[in-house]
Amino acid sequence: MKYSVLFLALLLIWACQSTPEKQGAPAAVSQIGKAISDSLLKTLGGNLSRAVQDSGFSGALKFCNIEAMPLTRQVVAENAAVGEVKRVSEKWRNPANQPDENDLAALNHFTTLAANGEALPAEFVQELGSGQYRYYRPLKVAALCLNCHGDPAHLAEGVGEQLQALYPEDKALGYEEGDFRGLVRVSVKMP
Ligand code: HEC
Repeated sequence: MKYSVLFLALLLIWACQSTPEKQGAPAAVSQIGKAISDSLLKTLGGNLSRAVQDSGFSGALKFCNIEAMPLTRQVVAENAAVGEVKRVSEKWRNPANQPDENDLAALNHFTTLAANGEALPAEFVQELGSGQYRYYRPLKVAALCLNCHGDPAHLAEGVGEQLQALYPEDKALGYEEGDFRGLVRVSVKMP
């Protein structure tokens, strides 16, 4: 009797531990999502620092305004499994980056952890059914970002005026270094 209880307890512990955190998402979804988001962040980051070097923050802002969306769409690559690639945030600058319901669930997952002072996981995968998945990767605010996303009183020269003109509904201000900023989202379809 005692042994069977022990066995049952062990079985339960094993069953709990073996439940994968990604809720059954194939490892391939993570692999694809990571590769695509890496490539997006490299492309956007590289272009941003070049633009800042060439024409300062205020010039780079124009570049983000014109190029961020096309560059984001370009990253989709020739991988047939990859659908849309986006950046989403609750505090969006471009209204095209407003979250939908699934994005909000993913954003909540990260904001709750951040509010509790917990370290953010590298990814969050949603299974939407019919082989459709969304891979989410968190973005944090670095010192450089504050030039265009920080306290409105301390933005880089000329940035505030341009933001008001280009993004009258801008919510992506007032961030501090280390804040959770939003997510890269990669839609993946598995056969
Ligand atoms: C030169 C100014 C500038 C800098 C520096 C900058 N951004 Fe942005 N950011 C923008 C602009 C402009 C947009 C809107 C782009 C568009 O219209 O597609 C934007 C959009 C975004 C978005 C998409 C969501 C939204 O709000 O529309 C994210 C996420 C983001 N920025 C994160 C960052 C992070 C993280 C950093 C630092 C690594 C950073 N940005 C640095 C100007 C900047």
